[in-house]
Amino acid sequence: MMEEPIVDKISVLFIDDEENVIRSLRRLFRKRDDWDCLFATRPSEAVKIIAEREIAVVVCDHKMPEMSGAHLLAKLRDKRPNMVSIMLTGQASTEDVEVAINDGGIFKFLQKPWDDQELAETIEGAIRKHQQKKNLQSELIEHERQVQSLEDHSKELRRTVEDRTNQLHDALYTAQSMRSDSFSTIFGICDVFFGLLEIAQPLWAAHAKRVQEISSDIAEKLQFSSERLLLIEAAARFHDIGKIGLPSYLFEKNTSEFSDNERAIYEQHPTLGWESLHKSPELRDLADIVRSHHERLDGKGFPDRKHGSSIPLEASIILAADMIASQLEKHRGNPSLALQLVESALKDGSGKLFPGNVATAAERAAAELRPKLLNRAVESIRIQDLAPKMVLAESLYTSTGTLLAAADTELTARSIARIRSVAKVDWVTESVLVAAAQKSQTPPRQSVTF
Ligand SMILES: [Fe+2]
Ligand SMILES: [Fe+2]
Repeated sequence: MMEEPIVDKISVLFIDDEENVIRSLRRLFRKRDDWDCLFATRPSEAVKIIAEREIAVVVCDHKMPEMSGAHLLAKLRDKRPNMVSIMLTGQASTEDVEVAINDGGIFKFLQKPWDDQELAETIEGAIRKHQQKKNLQSELIEHERQVQSLEDHSKELRRTVEDRTNQLHDALYTAQSMRSDSFSTIFGICDVFFGLLEIAQPLWAAHAKRVQEISSDIAEKLQFSSERLLLIEAAARFHDIGKIGLPSYLFEKNTSEFSDNERAIYEQHPTLGWESLHKSPELRDLADIVRSHHERLDGKGFPDRKHGSSIPLEASIILAADMIASQLEKHRGNPSLALQLVESALKDGSGKLFPGNVATAAERAAAELRPKLLNRAVESIRIQDLAPKMVLAESLYTSTGTLLAAADTELTARSIARIRSVAKVDWVTESVLVAAAQKSQTPPRQSVTF
């Protein structure tokens, strides 16, 4: 182990009640410029000196009148733990030596008369010991400071992590509320827009609503989350919105009667719908579904000829729901035939037009419509007695032939208000036919007055 260097002006205190010993020591170390030699002839004097300044080494007599050197050193040791003690005595028993070593923490025991060289070397050794103790203490203090600093840092880190976590929760909560707010705002606007469509194109709106209900039913069977259900319902409502941009003469024909040119124009409607919807960032997912609602699993759909999993599942569901709704509309007078055709079309389309699980869920949804469609009786309701949730069993037209509400439309407060306001000025009947399945919500029956 390397020896510690002796630092300049180290204080060494000599304590001895004999004046001649003190004189000899003073003389002996007079030339030690590197030591600051101090002398005391009484223990009380030594205590005072040590209280006032740092002493590296104390060389102490044992037999003294006020108290023994061993006791004095034990007392001083508590005050100055880094101080190193040397006992210098002419008469000490083994017991004295033991006490001095155990209680006083004596570094070395020297006998009087001393050997000058040995005493000087012992003091130098004690000084090095003192330096080591001081260094050790500094290291200990530094270590404790580092531990404390680490603990502080760790506390600070914990606080920061807690703060950040809270901030994140707040941000997440805000984002969720904003998302939910913007979601409900967007869908609120969609409601208003759909209301306009009901006025402008009641047949299209009735079809869209039917596709929405069936799509929602299929999606529920496929365990969609509530948020995803909202999305598919909105997409189903607007799946054909692009048709607004197509020439009206196309809708006077069946799709099977289209020329190549007419078909090409018709096949633009998913893209037109996508173009009008995707401008709003909140409606991008919805727009993508609308664009893909005529895509087929086998790649023979339109407009992008997408294949397999590149088609959103929601779009495949809407395709299946559209197929069911179209058959029901085409064979309104014969729901049994419509359901039969739906069943075989879904079977044929499984794995070709849409995934097998969509076909299976759609078949179940169609099967569940059967009792509602086949057992539906019709009754006549006065215009003033119409109520929300009633389902029209006939289409309503003005005297000039403008369609007001399509058959199979479920009435809402808004549509009833519109029918009543038109009926005041331009009406050909006082009562309308509604499906009796909603009987529990219908007011008293009236006779047919067509
Ligand atoms: Fe379409
Ligand atoms: Fe459609």
